[in-house]
Amino acid sequence: MALNDMHAEAVAGIVDRVVTRYRRDPTCMVQILREVQEACDWIPPEAIDRMQALLGVPRTKIEGVAGFYSFFYTQPRGKYRVLFSDNITDRMQGNKAMMDRLCNSLWVERGKVSEDGLVSVGKTACTGMCDQGPAMLVNNYAVAGLTATRIDEIAELIRGKVPLAEWPAEYFRIEDNIRRADILLGSDLKPGDALLAARARAPSDGLMASNMRSWREGLPTGLSGPILMLDEIKRANLRGRGGAGFATARKWQICRDTPLTEGSTRVVVCNADEGEPGTFKDRVLLSRQADTVFEGMTVAARVLGARTGFLYLRGEYRYLLPSLQAVLARRRAQKLLGAGILGCEGFDFDIQIHIGAGAYVCGEESALIESLEGKRGTPRIRPPFPVESGYLGQPTCVNNVETFCAAAHIAIHGGAWWAERGTTESTGTKLHSVSGDCARPGVYEYPFGVSVERVLHDCGARHPQAVQVGGPSGTCLAAAEFGRLLGFEDVPTAGAFMVFDVRRDMFEVTHNFAQFFAHESCGFCTPCRVGTQLVLRRMDKLAIGHGSPFDMQELHALENLLHGTTHCGLGASATHQLRDALHRFGPAFAARSPLQRLAPGFDLDAELAPARRATGRDDPQAHLETLG
Ligand SMILES: Cc1cc2nc3c(=O)[nH]c(=O)nc-3n(C[C@H](O)[C@H](O)[C@H](O)COP(=O)(O)O)c2cc1C
Ligand code: SF4
Repeated sequence: MALNDMHAEAVAGIVDRVVTRYRRDPTCMVQILREVQEACDWIPPEAIDRMQALLGVPRTKIEGVAGFYSFFYTQPRGKYRVLFSDNITDRMQGNKAMMDRLCNSLWVERGKVSEDGLVSVGKTACTGMCDQGPAMLVNNYAVAGLTATRIDEIAELIRGKVPLAEWPAEYFRIEDNIRRADILLGSDLKPGDALLAARARAPSDGLMASNMRSWREGLPTGLSGPILMLDEIKRANLRGRGGAGFATARKWQICRDTPLTEGSTRVVVCNADEGEPGTFKDRVLLSRQADTVFEGMTVAARVLGARTGFLYLRGEYRYLLPSLQAVLARRRAQKLLGAGILGCEGFDFDIQIHIGAGAYVCGEESALIESLEGKRGTPRIRPPFPVESGYLGQPTCVNNVETFCAAAHIAIHGGAWWAERGTTESTGTKLHSVSGDCARPGVYEYPFGVSVERVLHDCGARHPQAVQVGGPSGTCLAAAEFGRLLGFEDVPTAGAFMVFDVRRDMFEVTHNFAQFFAHESCGFCTPCRVGTQLVLRRMDKLAIGHGSPFDMQELHALENLLHGTTHCGLGASATHQLRDALHRFGPAFAARSPLQRLAPGFDLDAELAPARRATGRDDPQAHLETLG
C-alpha cells in the first residue's frame, strides 16, 4: 500500500503507538510529529485529528507547530523526499547540475511532487556537509559527495521503489575529514575520568584514576566538588563556542545560584543545532567524541545540580541518532548516567536526544527551548534568561557541543592547563569547519589566535580573494586582512571558515546569504521579517541587472535598520556579510547595476525622491511599519 494512501485506521494506529511512547506528553510534540511523518511519509489530517484527541491540544496548535518546521509536511510530498543542500559551497560544487539531472531523470519539477506521487525534489539551506558537497537529504538522511553517476543510481533506486534501508550503505557514509587535531580531536578521554575528577574527593580517594594528574592536589579538603569544578572553568577562562563567547563559568554560576521551586530541577542542554551554513565541526565531535560531549554535560550537571539533560540534534544529523543512543546506553550501563552516578547518592542525571526539524532559528537558545517544549521555535522575550527560567520554567544552561567537550578536558587537567593555550581572552583550542575553494576541506583544530593566512595555507587554498569567518552571520575578510587572528580579540568565530578564490563573484555569495536569512526569519518581529525580504528583493533586482544607485543606498539603509531593531540575533546579524561585502567588494555589486554604468542623464530615482518623502517611503523604518 502506498503510504500516502494509508487508511485512516492505520494512521491512527501509528499515532497511538508514537504518542503512547511519548507518554501522551504534549511537550514532545516535535518528536511525535517527526516520528509520525517518518512512518506515514507526511503528516495527514487524520494524524492531526488523532493527536488532538490523545494529547488534548487544539488542532490549530498542532498545525501551527507542524507548519513552522521546514522538514514537516502537511501535504503529501512523495515517498522519497529529496532536498538538495543549497549553501553557497554546494552551489560552487555544482548542486544545481545534480538537481537538474535528478529532476530530468525522474520527470519531476523542482519544488514539486511527481505526478505518480513517488518523489519530490526541492532545496534546503545547508545540510552541514560543506566539506563533502554537493550533498542532499533523502527522507532526512544525508547523502554527500554527489556525482553524476551517483545521481543516476539514485534515480534508478527511486524508480524501482527500493526502500531506503536497502540502498547501498556507502551512499550514506559521511566522512569526518579531520585535517588537524589538537586537544579535543586528538585525545580520547576514558569515559568517567572527567566525572571522577569533578567529584573532587581527596587525591587519596581510591576512585581517582592513578594516572590522572590531579589539579586538586594540595587543595584543602572539605571544599565541595562542584564549587572546585566551577573554579577550574573560571580559571580556564572558557568562553562558549556557539558564537557569542559568553563566559561559561558565569553562565553555570548564575544557573546554579537560581533557586529551584518545589519539584523542579536545573536542566543542561547541549546545542547541536549547528545550522549556520559552513559549520560542521559539531557533527564531527558528535561522531568522534560523543562520550566526551556527554561527559562534559554530566560534569555541568554535577556543578549545577541538574537532573535533566537534552541533546538538541539538528534534523540533518538524524543519521547520528543510533550511534549516539548506543553511547548513552553504554554510559547508563557504566553508571555514568542515571541514578546515583558513580555511586554518588543524589547525583542523578540523564540525557535525552531531541531531533530538530529544519529551522535555523532553533539554534538560538530560547527558540531551542521552545522547540524542546514542543512548540514553534520562536525566540523568547528576555529577561528572564534561560539560566533563570528556561525549559518548562526551570533554570536551564544551554551550551555548544564544543564547550561541553572543553569542559570535560578541563575537569581532568584543570583550568590553568587549558589557559596555557590560545590567547588571554580566547583560551584553549578552537575547531574550524573549512570549506570552499581549497584542496583539503574538513575540520581543523588550532589554539585560538591562529591567523587566517595559516589556515589558508594548511587547507591548500590557492588565490583566495575572501574568507567568510563564522558563517553568513559572521565576518567577510578580503585578502588584505588575511593576517588577522581568529579569536574574540580580533575575528570572533563559531567555527565556519569558507574560502572563495578569485574566480568567485562575491555578489553571488551575498545573494545566497540573503536568500538564507529571508527564508530562515521566523517572522516574529517586523524589522527582520520584512527587512530580510526587502534585502532579498534588492539583491534579486541587482542579480538580473536591474539595479540602480538607489538600490545600493537602500541596502545600506536596511543594513543599519536590521542591526539595531530586531528581537533576536538572527535578524541582528542577517546583514553582517552584506555590510562587509558592500565595503570590500563594491565593484561586484556595481557590476550588477547597469543604470550606474550607463550614467543616465535622467535620474529616475532622484525625480521620485520627493514623492517617496511625501509618502514616507524614504524612511525604511516608516516603510516597514506600513508594510508590517
Ligand atoms: C539564529 C541563531 C542561531 C544559533 N545557532 C547556534 C547553534 O547552532 N549552535 C550553538 O551552539 N549556538 C547557536 N547560537 C547561539 C545560542 O543562542 C547560544 O548562545 C549558545 O548555544 C550558547 O552556548 P555557548 O555559551 O557554549 O556558546 C545561535 C544563536 C542565534 C541567534
Ligand atoms: S529577529 Fe528574525 S528570527 Fe529573530 S525573532 Fe525576529 S523575526 Fe524571528
